[in-house]
Amino acid sequence: MTYEGLAGKVAVVTGGAQGIGAAIVRALVNQGATVAAVDCNETFVEKPPQSLAENEETVHRFKCDVTEKESVDHLIQTIETTVGPIDILVNVAGILKIGAIHELSTEDWHATFATNTTALFYISQAISRFMITRQDGVIVTVGSNAAYIPRMNMSAYAASKAAATMFSKCLGLELAQHNIRCNSVSPGSTDTPMQRNMWKDDNGGQRVINGNEQEYRTGIPLKRIAEPTDIADAVLFLVSEKSRHITMHDIRIDGGATLGV
Ligand SMILES: NC(=O)c1ccc[n+]([C@@H]2O[C@H](COP(=O)([O-])OP(=O)(O)OC[C@H]3O[C@@H](n4cnc5c(N)ncnc54)[C@H](O)[C@@H]3O)[C@@H](O)[C@H]2O)c1
Repeated sequence: MTYEGLAGKVAVVTGGAQGIGAAIVRALVNQGATVAAVDCNETFVEKPPQSLAENEETVHRFKCDVTEKESVDHLIQTIETTVGPIDILVNVAGILKIGAIHELSTEDWHATFATNTTALFYISQAISRFMITRQDGVIVTVGSNAAYIPRMNMSAYAASKAAATMFSKCLGLELAQHNIRCNSVSPGSTDTPMQRNMWKDDNGGQRVINGNEQEYRTGIPLKRIAEPTDIADAVLFLVSEKSRHITMHDIRIDGGATLGV
């Protein structure tokens, strides 16, 4: 499927080395966009772990820790001058720290918010200043369905994603007057390294689909774990002209796991 208005656009995708971020990089490049794929992964720039897209020459890799404000400001300036004026930002970089509240370390709490929430402020601020001067742009943030439902051992993650989703809406409200749209997507369990790290054995995926009554955890009514491309497809829609009248919205992509609440 071809989406109008993406060919020739410059997109920044954070967390682009693997999982959902890598799928979004591929999807954008396949639509004819030039993509600056950003990740803190050490080997990402020197020795890419996998081909990010068929059209490799339109993928530019940048190593950056998005929790470091100065690095982010420098990165965005560099992309603007070396790759081109940024039309699209997709915030994907995120981390998950598991632990019961009475045991979770202060470091894990702060690290979770630094990556999943505060980094959105840094990068959105840096990019929106350029977008405002051009009166054009679109921003999509990858949140999580954990923002909508309490989950055992995921307090920091869920709270940081709830904040991220609301930040995206506030950003959309402030930037609408500048012709900049801001939306988010909230995936449920998606087959990536982050998800598989939580699976204890080969039945890990099936257990997620079934749910867990002891932990008050719903299963997945559509009875499948999402593929990263399921998330990338929704992002393509939100960054394309097909969604030109949609802003401050969130699309849940979780096979019904949060029962639409
Ligand atoms: N996989 C799931 O089940 C799932 C469900 C809901 C939401 N999400 C969200 O989707 C996004 C992508 O998740 P994923 O499953 O692909 O995760 P992943 O761990 O497989 O990939 C995340 C990528 O982000 C990068 N990253 C992490 N911290 C960074 C930082 N400070 N600076 C730059 N890059 C950084 C990592 O190096 C990695 O390449 C995350 O925001 C995650 O919270 C994932």
